Amino acid sequence: MTLELGLNQQPAHLRQGSSIGQPLTRRDGFLKVTGGAVYAADNHPEGMLYAVLAVSSIARGRVLSLDVEAAKAYAGVVEVMTPQNRPALAIDPDAKDNPFMFRLDLLQNDGVRYPNQSIAVVIGETLEAATEGAALLSPRYEVLPARVGLDDAESFVPRGVGVGNPPVQHKGDVEAGLQSAATRIEATYETPAQYHNAMEPHAIVAAWDGDRLSIDTPSQGLAMAQGRIAGLFGIAPENIHIRSPFLGGGFGSKGMMSGPQVLGILAARLVGRPVKLVLRREQMYGPVGHRAPTRQTLRLGMDGEGRLTAVDHHARTTSSTFDDFFEPAADASHTLYASPAIATSHDAVRLDTGTPLFMRAPGEATGSIALESAIDEAAYACGMDPLEFRLRNYAEVEPMSGKPFSSKALRECYQQAADRFGWASRPLQPRLMRDADGFLTGWGMGTATFPALMFQAEARAVLKSDGSGLMETGAQDMGQGAWTAFAQIAADGLGLDIDRLEFRAGSSDLPNAGIAGGSGHTATAGMAIHNAGAAVIAKLADLATADEASPLFGAGNEGVLARGGRLLRRDDESRGETYGDILTRAGLKEIEGSGKAASDPASLEAYAMHAHGAVFAEVKVDPDFGQVRVTRLVGAFAAGRVINPRLVRSQYYGGMIWGVSFALQEEAVTDRRSGRIQNANLAEYHVPVNADVPSVEAILVHEDDPHVNALGIKGVGEIGVTGTAGAVANAVWHATGVRPRRFPIRIEDLLAR
Ligand code: MOS
Repeated sequence: MTLELGLNQQPAHLRQGSSIGQPLTRRDGFLKVTGGAVYAADNHPEGMLYAVLAVSSIARGRVLSLDVEAAKAYAGVVEVMTPQNRPALAIDPDAKDNPFMFRLDLLQNDGVRYPNQSIAVVIGETLEAATEGAALLSPRYEVLPARVGLDDAESFVPRGVGVGNPPVQHKGDVEAGLQSAATRIEATYETPAQYHNAMEPHAIVAAWDGDRLSIDTPSQGLAMAQGRIAGLFGIAPENIHIRSPFLGGGFGSKGMMSGPQVLGILAARLVGRPVKLVLRREQMYGPVGHRAPTRQTLRLGMDGEGRLTAVDHHARTTSSTFDDFFEPAADASHTLYASPAIATSHDAVRLDTGTPLFMRAPGEATGSIALESAIDEAAYACGMDPLEFRLRNYAEVEPMSGKPFSSKALRECYQQAADRFGWASRPLQPRLMRDADGFLTGWGMGTATFPALMFQAEARAVLKSDGSGLMETGAQDMGQGAWTAFAQIAADGLGLDIDRLEFRAGSSDLPNAGIAGGSGHTATAGMAIHNAGAAVIAKLADLATADEASPLFGAGNEGVLARGGRLLRRDDESRGETYGDILTRAGLKEIEGSGKAASDPASLEAYAMHAHGAVFAEVKVDPDFGQVRVTRLVGAFAAGRVINPRLVRSQYYGGMIWGVSFALQEEAVTDRRSGRIQNANLAEYHVPVNADVPSVEAILVHEDDPHVNALGIKGVGEIGVTGTAGAVANAVWHATGVRPRRFPIRIEDLLAR
């Protein structure tokens, strides 16, 4: 029985009275379903005005004129912010000291570098007045031709991809490996531009008090946002208080402060009153990041037994004309399949778009579509079942680095998901399965992987003499359930039942919890929480074991354990006392401690650390009309310790549905003449609804990892999207005999045969 991860699969020392591993529902769930959760845009401080962006309708050129007078003449319009009157900043918005400092459009001049770039901000007494004022600006432009496609500009090799990885890497001799191969395949795949489209648009309510700034805004990284704003305005970070208790999704787009959020702060500065600025849906297609399109060519060589002799993965990607984010798509081939020769390379073109950005599994999502499709093509070319082919090329060590894996239960993932799906009865040839209604049926699979990352975080813990505890860290919950998982880790770290624990997060005046990104938040902030709990318990144990009045006297710090609000002797658990008794005898109302977390450099050096998974997909294709439906998805994932199986499964479901979306639906369509995005709305930018994904299962495969961190936590937020789109594409091939090489898969491509 693999579907429920019970407590009996947790290590013994966490079994009894443990919160970790329990399938608790979200602590904030009730607030959310009853409308009690206050999101950034729900705030309404005294005297607040409404700011509305005016954005460019061209992709490239210059704003020649804005009818500021007409806008200001409209009843209720208070002010119009343009490059002429925008308050000064301490640094150039185009300055960039590090890869996480994205260049911002903050009305620094009249230039237009992409569609939907902010060109003015209208501030009014009401949202309606500001909206009407923005419409009255009637901008006139000098228009230059837009560069919109993967071949529209000179290509170049970027200095770094992703967070600065080398753009070109290799081991072994790929050309020799291809030449000596018994079988070779070469194929080129294209993936489109995608937009994060979080349910909650970027929003900010900003209020200045002299040089102090109070902000409500969604953020995946409060300390980083605080630092960025401090730099832009030349004020101390501690003068800035950011509250971000609830996010309606982020997916990477709220990782860094965006231009429009900073414009809200500037608008409040200009008018000397609190200001709210909320992006309209279409305004999110430009200034807040996107997933860049790619064109990827894979060349694979195999020997007579179906073993890879060479993997060559080249990706072309795009960035904006003024900044540097490059989707690291080809790097997906570093991790998954053993091969004596591997080469990955990237080139890029600069387009008149907003700067692309991290978007759920940046690099892995795009790269694994191409890699998993190519692996499927290679298996078929070798006359092998795709699962057998993957097992034949199973990587026992990380292929590119040669490092051992800190843990890797991918074989178990393959087996458990394949069994559950019924893969063994799949015919090798395509177009052989039909259902009772005559629909072509196909089964495909893909491998999922995502690195187990850790960043830096701090937490503060308090135990009180009434037996309750408090844990504080400035963590962010995008909706994934982080606060529930963190509270579980905190309860265990403090040896408390979870209902005796208060957990505070989502505010910049709490200890820095790092970023909710890179699937590293649970591991990073979780370890800080765990360590803060341990620090308080150690202090408490020092008190008790040195006190002759305590049953723990003389047990030594190592000789006690904390559980259910009591310290107990390890050698005799019937002897112990409550935290309250220890503190009261010591004359203390409370005791506090703090903890930090960061990745361990020695482990990073010694091991490759990744989560893994296997996804199997069934599709049905209308033989006459080429319409594709995903009817079944089964994924099995191994990602170290599971803190909360309900929430982890929910992350896998979400990731897998993103995979379906990638394969069949999502695409931002750009008009070649104007450079404008034609479907900048949720009616025409398609994402799956329930009817698009009838059955999704996620199996949690047990995995102990002694190296990633003391709790053995890997990340779960991004891995689900990585194997799924390839699995769907491979299932479409198996149903139809047509190999999808362009995403999303289009009806006309399937009918072309
Ligand atoms: Mo994610 S793209 O690391 O928010």
